[in-house]
Amino acid sequence: PNLKMNEHGGSSLTNVHCRAKGGTPGFKVAILGAAGGIGQPLSMLMKMNLLVSVLHLYDVVNTPGVTSDISHMDTSAVVRGFLGQNQLEDALTGMDLVIIPAGVPRKPGMTRDDLFNINAGIVKTLCEAIAKRCPKAIVNLISNPVNSTVPIAAEVFKRAGTYDPKRLLGVTMLDVVRANTFVAEVMGLDPRDVDVPVVGGHAGITILPLLSQVKPPSSFTPKEIEYLTDRIQNGGTEVVEAKAGAGSATLSMAYAAVKFADACLRALKGEADIIQCAYVDSQVTELPFFASKVRLGRNGVEEFLPLGPLSDYERASLEKAKKELATSVEKGVSFIRK
Ligand code: NAD
Ligand code: LMR
Repeated sequence: PNLKMNEHGGSSLTNVHCRAKGGTPGFKVAILGAAGGIGQPLSMLMKMNLLVSVLHLYDVVNTPGVTSDISHMDTSAVVRGFLGQNQLEDALTGMDLVIIPAGVPRKPGMTRDDLFNINAGIVKTLCEAIAKRCPKAIVNLISNPVNSTVPIAAEVFKRAGTYDPKRLLGVTMLDVVRANTFVAEVMGLDPRDVDVPVVGGHAGITILPLLSQVKPPSSFTPKEIEYLTDRIQNGGTEVVEAKAGAGSATLSMAYAAVKFADACLRALKGEADIIQCAYVDSQVTELPFFASKVRLGRNGVEEFLPLGPLSDYERASLEKAKKELATSVEKGVSFIRK
């Protein structure tokens, strides 16, 4: 094959029709913010994903090193690095899936909304380029505050005339991963055998674990419900405080992002019954965006699963969550419309 060094020192195969191992056509995936705390382990894990044939790593700093390093892994995905705004559009051309962990993380004492002023502009710029170069890509948006950045992305795509609500997904998988872990601990089970739906949004009280719907079915005492709900809602803050100024969750987030991206890719490939929680343009409640279980398919979100029967505690929590969510959505929308 035609092997050449790319400008950032990573070798890349050119002019070959890339196929993932096993003869299955592979997907082209871009990671924006690839040199960051989430971006690096996420890039490594996506290089290990057999559904990925081409992996584009974009950041405003340090992509040459990350790309060179990751390109030495003996897995089939071809890795290319892109550095700085001038190379953003090239990074995105022809991508099937774009994962966005770009932006600043929290420090102790901050809320996710405190990141809005910086991250809103970053997400806007990245989504404008997506609309130009890969308007049909599935977008997995990780940058906080997710409750507002997803509405920002939607508005950017609407303005560009490319908005497809099925293809824009806010990543709330880390809430589900945490919920499975903490609930499994209480139940004395392997977390892989536990499934906790987490709905609403991705900040504080908008993170609403539906403990009444845990699988395998289980009942919790009011004390356990309070402990679990509080721990799941504040899991992010727990990590921010433990890291004491050095950022927020990166490793568990990369794990969660890959779990979610892999589900999106398997659905794109045509695998049936892929159901995940995500924060999306939604008809499940009266709110324009809401996280809940969705069925993923070849076009992204194909079906919203109903919220199902809620306990009194969950119903009351949902009302509080909706109030805060409405404000966060409005803040995102007006950032673009103003
Ligand atoms: P980080 O600071 O370690 O990395 C962020 C990366 O984004 C850096 O490499 C930076 O250079 C890059 N970046 C900045 N501006 C950019 C731009 N305009 N274009 C491309 N890249 C740009 O931060 P992190 O810990 O990786 O967190 C990233 C974001 O993810 C934060 O906003 C954080 O709050 C969020 N996050 C979300 C979840 C979730 O569950 N959705 C979980 C954890 C973190
Ligand atoms: C998380 O839930 O870990 C992320 O949203 C990062 C944060 O700021 O808590």
